[in-house]
Amino acid sequence: MLHASHKSWHPLTRWSTMSLLDVRSLSKSFPHGSTLRPAVDDVSFTLREGETLALVGESGAGKSTTGRLVLRLIDADSGEISIRGRDVRGLRGADLRNFRRDAQMIFQDPFSSLNPRMRIWKAVAEPLLVHRVCPRGELKDRAAALLDSVGLGTHLLDRYPTGLSGGQLQRAAIARALSTDPSLIVCDEPVAALDVSVQAQVINLLLDIQEQRGVAYLFVTHDLALVEKVAHSVAVMRAGKIVEHATTGTLFSAPEQDYTRTLLSAIPEMPETATV
Ligand SMILES: Nc1ncnc2c1ncn2[C@@H]1O[C@H](COP(=O)(O)OP(=O)(O)OP(=O)(O)O)[C@@H](O)[C@H]1O
Ligand SMILES: [Mg+2]
Repeated sequence: MLHASHKSWHPLTRWSTMSLLDVRSLSKSFPHGSTLRPAVDDVSFTLREGETLALVGESGAGKSTTGRLVLRLIDADSGEISIRGRDVRGLRGADLRNFRRDAQMIFQDPFSSLNPRMRIWKAVAEPLLVHRVCPRGELKDRAAALLDSVGLGTHLLDRYPTGLSGGQLQRAAIARALSTDPSLIVCDEPVAALDVSVQAQVINLLLDIQEQRGVAYLFVTHDLALVEKVAHSVAVMRAGKIVEHATTGTLFSAPEQDYTRTLLSAIPEMPETATV
């Protein structure tokens, strides 16, 4: 039978038409006792340039594992990952290093993602050093500019992570992720560890960065109130599988799965986050 309608699930074409990240039939199992248990099971999705795809679902659904697979922090068992049409799983050498510049990550806990013994300017500029995109003598100036771009003053340059608040640290982690001018950032619960009042500021910063730089986010969260603010589309995960994916508006107004409806009904009434 001929399929004329191999339709993409993305009806949204507001900003971009180019797909940045394509994931097809991605699977990964981990040992569980004497057997293997799938953490990510036949997952497929597309993320366009400059857009945000939220991965939501209950704890253990496979959200973080999906993000780590995409960045090649862990190896998939099977499936395809491509960025601008290039096979990510097969990248080696200089191509892999270029991919690592182009695809960055922001973690939940900035206290553990920044080296406690490294001054802030060095932590922010470290990717530039690693990827040799900036002469050593210019690193501190670049760090100052990066801090400025995330709303942090240069008086923080010589401090250690313990001298910054949680929100300041997450901004520094964002500056570090931006240092190599990536086209993709995997954000894994990027504000979950922050005070609610600070969450809104960091989310607004991420939105501003996307508008200015056109960076795409794969946004892992269990917070559906946040999803409505940041995501163009949403993939709902359960037990390693994507059980529903749709544009954000469609998912919120007409969820198809009972599981999605349950997640949506669990959104707390929180005026602080509602004003993000
Ligand atoms: N390195 C690992 N070794 C063994 N099992 C793992 C490993 N990483 C993840 N898992 C398992 O894979 C499954 C998916 O985990 P994952 O961390 O991706 O879930 P998640 O959706 O991010 O959950 P949460 O919302 O709690 O962060 C879980 O059953 C988890 O225990
Ligand atoms: Mg997780």
